[in-house]
Amino acid sequence: MIDASIPLVDLHRHLDGNISPETIWELSHKHNVALPVDSFEEFRPLTQIQDKTSDLMAFLAKLDWGVAALGDLDACYRVAYENMVDAKSGYLDYVELRFSPFFMSRAFNLPLEGLIEAVCDGVEAGVKETGVKANLIGILSRTFGVETCQKELDALLQFKDKFVALDLAGDEINYPAELFIPHFERARDAGWAISVHAGEADGPVSVWNAIKLLGATRIGHGVSAVQDKALIDYMREHEIVVESCPTSNYQTATVANLSEHPLPYFLQQGLLATLNTDDPGVSNIDLAYEYKVAHQVLGISKESLKQLQRNGVAASFLSQSEKEALFAAKLSNS
Ligand code: HPA
Ligand code: ZN
Repeated sequence: MIDASIPLVDLHRHLDGNISPETIWELSHKHNVALPVDSFEEFRPLTQIQDKTSDLMAFLAKLDWGVAALGDLDACYRVAYENMVDAKSGYLDYVELRFSPFFMSRAFNLPLEGLIEAVCDGVEAGVKETGVKANLIGILSRTFGVETCQKELDALLQFKDKFVALDLAGDEINYPAELFIPHFERARDAGWAISVHAGEADGPVSVWNAIKLLGATRIGHGVSAVQDKALIDYMREHEIVVESCPTSNYQTATVANLSEHPLPYFLQQGLLATLNTDDPGVSNIDLAYEYKVAHQVLGISKESLKQLQRNGVAASFLSQSEKEALFAAKLSNS
């Protein structure tokens, strides 16, 4: 399903939603986190979605097991490093890993700056070890409110050069984009690109607001854009990227059935749509699985799968020469 001559990239992947059950189990014991079960066999299903959940917030609750086990900065380094090993096992050529420092720090009240440094170091070590190229996207967790997001942003900006973009994730319904206008103005002033979760739990207005109020050039999910033809036209004309994650959208009940996912429509409308995993550890998937779903369930042709692969490179936060280098490396290996 994946074309070996085109780079394989994942642009929407939460490193704090991609901690293996084995690592969560080990870290939970190391840091004396109370667990409701005694065996790993019983624990694994608690950390991963079983078929689906009722809504976005129920889905996000599954991520809590992983971040609850982050008892010190070494644990943060470890999960960051393991994300790169996982990217390599999934045959990725390039990955944009995103994380929310506050969300990761919460259980053990870890210092935000130290945590960001540990994650950056873990990813860097993983890049050296695996040869997979990576960039980082900082996340503001809207669920914790405007002021916490200010602190989260302050901490991220201490490491301005380590990040390529800023994202807004979490509770989309109760914390809409308009609350975060000043945060994203600072992010744009810092030279970061903007990718925002929108149109996942909320309607097409949330996508408009992510674009118009926050300056997003990439939209995480954007599923509800399908309800607004003027928005689709605007996104095409302005080359606003859609970061589609079909299995995640099924598991959050954003789409009732996988076969109803709007990715084929986005492609048919000429949007710069990309295919990604979101939280592969929690969803228990990899990117190859999403390509299989796109073909077998969504009915996307093999030719269009190639387009999705190419769109991923085009929509990445890499420079033109870095994009070309990804293609060149692929050709010299095949
Ligand atoms: N939506 C919002 N926040 C998130 C998600 C998501 O799909 N995954 C991890 N944090
Ligand atoms: Zn996401």
